[in-house]
Amino acid sequence: MRDDFTRLIMEHQFAVDEILTKVSILRTEFLHLHRYNPIEHVSSRVKSPESILDKVSRRGLEPSLSAIKENITDIAGIRITCSFISDTYRVLEALTSQSDVRVIAMKDYIADPKPNGYRSLHAIVEIPVFLSTGPVPVTVEIQIRTIAMDFWASLEHKIFYKYDGDVPSHLATDLKNAATIAGSLDRQMEELHTEVHGATSLDDA
Ligand code: GTP
Ligand code: MG
Repeated sequence: MRDDFTRLIMEHQFAVDEILTKVSILRTEFLHLHRYNPIEHVSSRVKSPESILDKVSRRGLEPSLSAIKENITDIAGIRITCSFISDTYRVLEALTSQSDVRVIAMKDYIADPKPNGYRSLHAIVEIPVFLSTGPVPVTVEIQIRTIAMDFWASLEHKIFYKYDGDVPSHLATDLKNAATIAGSLDRQMEELHTEVHGATSLDDA
């Protein structure tokens, strides 16, 4: 089991590396074509064995490798922070339309924010990782958001943990209001950006 776990983590790290390369190519190409960089920041992580096993027990899953592979889809995670809302959709499209990327699930929390105000695009994708023994499909969770969405989500995350998931209602209300303000800031920035740059797109080279 120990060796299997090491292999599982390693495969997910390779998948993260592959997606990071894809993101880096898109970023450089877009900059070359439009003299404009739609991606502000990229971060990634692979869940630790402890954190995978925590999630397994929280979900009441059997701690087998196959149950983990099938049910825990965020062992590998990539977060892409973009400047503007339109960029988040363009980056999502540019990644998920690639022929080696298979989309398993997609959630648009920008069009449909969570009740607490959380906004982001989420995609669960599968990509092949080519090992000496052949290709292995590996699942990666991709989160794409604007700077304002990221700012909000990181604060909400801290508050959520501080109160162990039981956020006092006045704070929840304030957070929700802040999410609305962040949303309107995003729309204002988008308008300004369109006025200055026009509607540049990844595909109108
Ligand atoms: P898990 O929460 O990972 O079990 O997944 P889920 O099935 O609820 O999927 P979802 O796509 O809603 O969330 C996946 C990830 O998105 C989370 O692990 C967080 O990183 C992020 N996320 C989702 N909702 C929130 C939220 O309300 N606040 C913050 N800060 N992050 C969120
Ligand atoms: Mg998660």
